[in-house]
Amino acid sequence: MLRTEYVEAAKERFGQLLAEQLERVEKMKGQGDFIDYKSLDRIIIGVCGGDGIGPAITSQAQRVLEFLLKDDVKSGRVVFRNIEGLTIERRAAENAAIPPAVLEEIKKCHVILKGPTTTPRKGDPWPNVESANVAMRKELDLFANVRPVRIPEQGIDWTFFRENTEGAYAVGSKGVNVTEDLAVDFTVVTSQGCERIIKAAFEYAKNNNKTRVTAVTKANIIKTTDGKFLDIFYEIAKDYPDITADDWYIDIMTAKLVDEKRRKDFQVVVLPNLYGDIITDEAAEFQGGVGTAGSANIGKRYAMFEAIHGSAPRMVQEGREKYADPCSIIRAGAMLLSHIGYAKEAEKLYKALDICTITEKKLVITGRDTGATGEEFADYLMETIEKL
Ligand code: IPM
Ligand code: MG
Repeated sequence: MLRTEYVEAAKERFGQLLAEQLERVEKMKGQGDFIDYKSLDRIIIGVCGGDGIGPAITSQAQRVLEFLLKDDVKSGRVVFRNIEGLTIERRAAENAAIPPAVLEEIKKCHVILKGPTTTPRKGDPWPNVESANVAMRKELDLFANVRPVRIPEQGIDWTFFRENTEGAYAVGSKGVNVTEDLAVDFTVVTSQGCERIIKAAFEYAKNNNKTRVTAVTKANIIKTTDGKFLDIFYEIAKDYPDITADDWYIDIMTAKLVDEKRRKDFQVVVLPNLYGDIITDEAAEFQGGVGTAGSANIGKRYAMFEAIHGSAPRMVQEGREKYADPCSIIRAGAMLLSHIGYAKEAEKLYKALDICTITEKKLVITGRDTGATGEEFADYLMETIEKL
């Protein structure tokens, strides 16, 4: 092929991407307000076990939630619905990030509790389907990925608002191999996409007595997209004069999070997708690892709550899934409770988790038969809640 032909072919792909993204902008413009769960007669919680250790840990989280909500489950105000089929086998067979029938079931729910799902990568035996997480965030337009990290004894109380639908992830699986030698990926931001995540961060700060919101970008280098994110950040900050707004570049922010003198000062952090992905793993590590952190993916109509770790297929191969630590998905469950208006129940669950994993710690989970099973841990948690 001639050089101009390669360029023309790439331009055509790029044109399609732009058309899709412009359509997304129109959809965002037409979006209404957040759903008001209090006004609903019935809240449907969909439960997707996922792959690997997912079903084992998710079923324990579901038991704990059902226990906390038992009166409302009995009265029918809260319904738990198990959704099968969000597995790598089925996704591979249908060559779909989320099988269409599964997505249809998911869309009939209000909120989803989701176990980890396998993301195939080059060299895996699976077709290279898009990550189910990423697809669900896009399909349900779950634009705010909220990830809290708390270490009370060190004075750390951070809440990360990671943009969840744009940035490097928006068309992450649709880059262009222009020639055999030249590959191009795209990062995408929109005014609407920046505004809604940044507003969500400031609103959270205002409603939770936080005094500082920090934006993290690399706007000195990624000037157009990160630059736009940052401009909109300072524009929106003007509406919150009581909150200090500042910004850091991702490289120095990564360093500052290990600076014990300075890191306590961060409160709410808002950032584009990929930086949020990276830094929330770092932050979770201080709290005891990604196994301890939960994650909320919030949109205006739907919300999905998940563990931030992977599906640990090796544990299943070795028959150890019943020893997998369900804490991360149970924490996600606590976030789900407070999101749908059960703040008191969420508070109880957080307290019990602290007792069972820090202060009393009668059971220890090691991931092997040297420790407790997820079921034993969930039993311990429920006994603890009963005594609160
Ligand atoms: C996360 C994960 C996902 C992401 C993966 C599994 C696609 O790392 O939730 O942080 O990159 O967003
Ligand atoms: Mg991640």
